[in-house]
Amino acid sequence: MNQYVTGAAIRELREKNKMTQLQFAEKLGVSDKTVSKWETGKGYPDITLLEPIAEAFRVSVTELISGNTIHNENVSANMMRSKFYVCPVCGNAIHSMGEAVIHCHGVALLPAEAEPTDEHHMIFIERVEDEYHVRIDHEMTKEHYISFVAAMSFDEMQMIKLYPEGNAEVRFKIRGVKKIFFFCNRDGLFSYDIVKGIDDRESGYDDAEERKELEKTAAKLFR
Ligand SMILES: [Fe+2]
Repeated sequence: MNQYVTGAAIRELREKNKMTQLQFAEKLGVSDKTVSKWETGKGYPDITLLEPIAEAFRVSVTELISGNTIHNENVSANMMRSKFYVCPVCGNAIHSMGEAVIHCHGVALLPAEAEPTDEHHMIFIERVEDEYHVRIDHEMTKEHYISFVAAMSFDEMQMIKLYPEGNAEVRFKIRGVKKIFFFCNRDGLFSYDIVKGIDDRESGYDDAEERKELEKTAAKLFR
């Protein structure tokens, strides 16, 4: 659905600004009946009125159209609720701690919905000292590639840009990382929760019993 300006947004902003339909109508030089029509979804304000309406509500036209300012409470204190906005035209990736109204190349960007990783977008994580070595099993051609990888903890994000023809491999400081996000230019955003005891296990288990067992089994099989 194309977003223009919704009746609900107009009503909510009008009430927030403590104006009656009549007071608001008079500011714009229309009748209160007209305002009522807009608010009940029976009509749209003429596009030339968008600026005066935004001015009356003390918001930007962009905010008015998206209707997103209304819930602008600072509830985004947790980085785990982060949103990524990616421009389909230029690939620009924007991180936001909460929902935002973001336009790029004339497109109103929607927050990318993260999918669980799938067989075409597999992630491999290895802990090496204080870092996670992350590899994504995916092609890296100009047409189809992983464009960024981000590691999220409650209070920090590490974000790494990747390029076609490069490797889909990155390193992150472990520091409380709980979730890994990565973005495929064709298939969108994926997320993976770090599994305690598996992904954060120290690699290089040469001395471990497990390794010895494996070697014993291999020796028996191939002797
Ligand atoms: Fe992909």
